[in-house]
Amino acid sequence: MAHTVPDIKHKNWSSQWLFIMAATGSAVGLGNIWKFPYITGENGGGAFVLLYLACILLLGVPVMMTEIMLGRKGGLSPINSMRKLVGIAKASPLWTTIGWSGLLAGVMILSFYSVIAGWALAYIPMMATGTFTGIDAEGSSELFGALIADPWRLILWHSIFMLMTMLVIARGMEKGLERAISILLPGLFLLLLALVGYAYVATDQFGRALSFLFNPDFDALLYTQNADGQTIFNLEGILSALGLAFFSLSLGMGSIMVYGAYLPKESSIGEATISIVIADTLVAILAGLAIFPIVFSYGLDIGAGPGLVFVTLPIAFGNMGGGVIFGTLFFVLLVFAAWTSAFSLLEPVVAWLVESKRFSRPNAVWLSGGIIWLVGLLNVLSFNVLESFHPLSFLGEFKLAQQNIFGILDYMTSNVMLPLGGLAMALFAAWVLPSAIVSKEFNLPEGCVTYRTWSFLIHYVTPIGVGLIFLKSVGLI
Ligand code: PHE
Repeated sequence: MAHTVPDIKHKNWSSQWLFIMAATGSAVGLGNIWKFPYITGENGGGAFVLLYLACILLLGVPVMMTEIMLGRKGGLSPINSMRKLVGIAKASPLWTTIGWSGLLAGVMILSFYSVIAGWALAYIPMMATGTFTGIDAEGSSELFGALIADPWRLILWHSIFMLMTMLVIARGMEKGLERAISILLPGLFLLLLALVGYAYVATDQFGRALSFLFNPDFDALLYTQNADGQTIFNLEGILSALGLAFFSLSLGMGSIMVYGAYLPKESSIGEATISIVIADTLVAILAGLAIFPIVFSYGLDIGAGPGLVFVTLPIAFGNMGGGVIFGTLFFVLLVFAAWTSAFSLLEPVVAWLVESKRFSRPNAVWLSGGIIWLVGLLNVLSFNVLESFHPLSFLGEFKLAQQNIFGILDYMTSNVMLPLGGLAMALFAAWVLPSAIVSKEFNLPEGCVTYRTWSFLIHYVTPIGVGLIFLKSVGLI
């Protein structure tokens, strides 16, 4: 049965600038400051960073342009935008799976994102009251360990973060967003720069961090130790670089599509994409440069995993002049960065409920937010009570077999759903949607260099790149 596309017009962003702000707010978040450093650490540094940057440039940029373009042409939530585009292209309704899988990915991501953002929230009062003053590596690890071992504390902060997100989305997010982001982003930038400066001055490990991040050592990426301590060859790291690029840029699940749906027709999609990608990449690199000198100088474990940032930076704050103020400010900014990303994770579901199920905006928010909050409880427990519960252990050798619930949700979204979602968007735009429609939506003549470069990348480089990395690293080819 063909679904009807709801005849609703959403309000547009008031300017292209506001769109760039909102989309940058979506991109810059825990992915850059929390995830990038710890995944880079787990995958041995330079070679991983190089691949990450290559994925951003060759796959991230064209897919982001595509996702914005599809959203603007569709003008609705990802599910309904895809329905509309399928109608225009007279294509198979199967393409709307892009919207459905995006909706599911958004729910899954926000359910753990909110828990991690909750850690950052919990750190604000800890920082402000000087808990970390004079702390050493062991003390900092203990404080972090005590936080994640306590489900009730985690539930409290997770609930507060979800409520904060729901309140903003219920009111419609443009109010206040522009002002918040235009203060937050430069603030976060400056503070990260200051932290990089601190790491440079206060540790003698800056050179080592630079070489760790930028000196590619492919053995470090391609060989890992298995549970029995044997060195084995595996390509998982390459898939993680791809997944992190998509996660960090918010691609492949409809966040950027739904923001694109509110983009005024005359705005330049290419320009917007470049600004967003540059800001996002810079923040990740700065975070790495702030964190790794501290990791090395305190002899911390680079492969420490999700706790890395929460253990390292407090040591710096605890031992620098003005650390209480800077530390508090840092976690406030981190929460803001996570908050503006969370908006874009919730918006696709809410927009769909409003359009297709005739919910009022607040009701759509309470329903979807409530479900995400509940799933979030499983993530809370994944750091304590259910830490070693591996629901997919029957998968044997496969990576997912050794993951707890948080690990599974994280892996499935970043490494599977987002890259495949982005791939499907690319295939649809390249091979299904008539090029006359696409070039008109981009405001670019089909013969111009920008259009032709985009078209080449999206026809060949994205499908081959994403396809190969995906199939190869999960062992299917
Ligand atoms: N890009 C966000 C970050 O880096 C996370 C995110 C992923 C947001 C997917 C929306 C969609 O933290």
